[in-house]
Amino acid sequence: MDHKVETLISESEIQDRVRSLGRQIEADYHDKPLTILAVLTGSLIMLADLVRRISIPHRIALIQASSYRGATTVATTLVINESFAPDVANRDVLLLDDILDTGQTLTALIRHLADRGARSVRTAVLLRKIGRQEVPIEPDYCGFTIPDVFVVGYGLDFNDDYRHLPYVGVLKEQEVVRDTQLQDS
Ligand code: IMP
Ligand code: MG
Repeated sequence: MDHKVETLISESEIQDRVRSLGRQIEADYHDKPLTILAVLTGSLIMLADLVRRISIPHRIALIQASSYRGATTVATTLVINESFAPDVANRDVLLLDDILDTGQTLTALIRHLADRGARSVRTAVLLRKIGRQEVPIEPDYCGFTIPDVFVVGYGLDFNDDYRHLPYVGVLKEQEVVRDTQLQDS
């Protein structure tokens, strides 16, 4: 089904911001064993752009976190699949996700990585949605703060569509249902 997508953040705005986040990360992780751990699937596009803006040596890794939210409860069960993630013990890990919404995914992953022996864990997100957070977590690097609207593009999906758009936009003509979906980040 095709929906209209209204641009919220343009391709050039994203590219400028990703470039400056890359510079910040480069400076902060100078001389540290950095692993950028991207949360599948939404952060893939940003990962590809970001790592090409970071000239210090670093590793790239992937992790999958699927959250299941029941229709009648706010409780979230997070299933972590780390079969593509290398050993993070004694590494400085930068978790990369597409969007900080409730904060449940990143909070659970930070705990998980600490248990795996990471030397440090910080977080980077393309977007942060205001008014949705359920757990207190401050991203260390954030591209843009957006209002509470459902967005797609630059990695973000609606039912796995729209990830390929080079910009971030708001889906129109569609009542977006968040509940009772098994969704990949
Ligand atoms: P959190 O655990 O609630 O912070 O959920 C984060 C995940 O929910 C993200 O990685 C996205 O996959 C998904 N999500 C939240 N808001 C949006 C949105 O506006 N568009 C697309 N996906 C979203
Ligand atoms: Mg998703």
